[in-house]
Amino acid sequence: MRVLVVGSGIAGLTCALEASARHDVTVVTKAGVADGATRWAQGGVAVVWDADGAAAGDSVAAHVADTLAAGDGLCDPSAVELLCSEGPAAVADLVRRGVAFDRRGEAYARATEAAHSAARVLHVDGDATGAAVEAALVESLRRSGVTVLEHTAVADLVVRDGAVVGVRTARGAEIAADAVVLATGGAGHLYPFTTNPAVATGDGLAAALRAGAVVGDLEMYQFHPTMLAVPGGSLVSEAVRGEGAVLRDADGRRFMLDVDPRAELAPRDVVARAIARRMAEQGGAPVVLDATALGAEHLARRFPGLTAQCAAHGLDWGRVPVPVAPAAHYWMGGVRTDLDGRTSLPGLLAVGEVARTGVHGANRLASSSLLEGAVFGTRCARALDLPRREPDVVDVDVVALGGGTEPLSRPDLQAVMWQGAGLVRDAAGLAAAAATLDAAVAAPGDDVVTALEDRNLLDLARALVAGATAREESRGAHHRSDAPGHAPGPARAVLLVAKGEVAPC
Ligand code: SIN
Repeated sequence: MRVLVVGSGIAGLTCALEASARHDVTVVTKAGVADGATRWAQGGVAVVWDADGAAAGDSVAAHVADTLAAGDGLCDPSAVELLCSEGPAAVADLVRRGVAFDRRGEAYARATEAAHSAARVLHVDGDATGAAVEAALVESLRRSGVTVLEHTAVADLVVRDGAVVGVRTARGAEIAADAVVLATGGAGHLYPFTTNPAVATGDGLAAALRAGAVVGDLEMYQFHPTMLAVPGGSLVSEAVRGEGAVLRDADGRRFMLDVDPRAELAPRDVVARAIARRMAEQGGAPVVLDATALGAEHLARRFPGLTAQCAAHGLDWGRVPVPVAPAAHYWMGGVRTDLDGRTSLPGLLAVGEVARTGVHGANRLASSSLLEGAVFGTRCARALDLPRREPDVVDVDVVALGGGTEPLSRPDLQAVMWQGAGLVRDAAGLAAAAATLDAAVAAPGDDVVTALEDRNLLDLARALVAGATAREESRGAHHRSDAPGHAPGPARAVLLVAKGEVAPC
């Protein structure tokens, strides 16, 4: 079978490597093979890992319970069960491929992160887990015989007789395939502040939406509480708070103590909103992350990358608290899949951040994205040998794409999204955002890839706002000031399809 994997982070490369023993696999990626978000992951891999025989005081059941609690009622429990129970085998595969997780003496080092009931986060070189994972997978890929097409942006899926039969690149070439696996990650650049790399513009999700795939939970965008709030600043891992760093406002007060009994280690959505509220109360100034009690020596040893990042910005975080603010981090929503990555379109699979398996619900638990890529990347590869999924009947809303005429630049789109569909939303703000987006057409880009990305961001912004408008409640990362609390009855997913014929890029 000719398999085309679009994207080259942990999800795509795991799927490609697992599939390469049985299939003719090609990986297509927009930039260099290692330029995706995986390389940027700091915290690590949350897993119940007992390969060293050390008593972790932890269990798969506890990991499942933590994941479900963070997901705020919207997770698919069977997806969570798979993630946590198949996690150790997937991590063993990473070790086999050369990922050397940090040890303390003979035992593996395990870190604590927010909303985890046990220390279970494995890491590499302190805060460089993603870089180590990506390097090991790329090295395995080079030895695997998989064809890799770098600097090849995918514009659209090619659909014939209702099935996906390949992709069309931004430069107009068609690549035929018996199965296309989307592993294109998220779209942090929907917002002006993001922890994501430049490539994260939702290209696969937008192409799937235009091709008619069912997508879901798009209103669930996770904002990480702590991005270094200086020009060019990037993520400051949750693991820093896990080690004991605290958040303080402009008066030096530890404001999280008033918000949640778990304080700085409450789930991400709770901490991010509390920071945003405090920032608004203090005239927009960032809060600070105070890691000084950990000591400069410990910080340099445990977080060498972050220590270097702070120093590059002239900050000595061992002595002085550093400014932080929330930023768009991870999209829980995506292309709706079954537990094996199969989407509503025959021939199309999706895995990793671009997919909505139901594993994260309304809020992803810290350090579970690498785990998701490893577990579901493997499952997705195996699904290539399964029969095509039978279409199921689902209740969907429709979203209109295209039709606007007012040019909207990327910064203007990002400002609309931050204002109307950011950390806190309401009906009026969402309606205003929808009106601007509906009237808009992406401003002409400087080059064909930028133009494609801008078009994708506009299509996705419309879909996210439609999802957020449809969900008239607050749940996890989706907080409506005009509808605080859960709606009565069981949580339901907001599923969307694009309306009518959608012009390809
Ligand atoms: C972090 O290190 O805080 C980010 C890891 C994640 O998003 O799971």
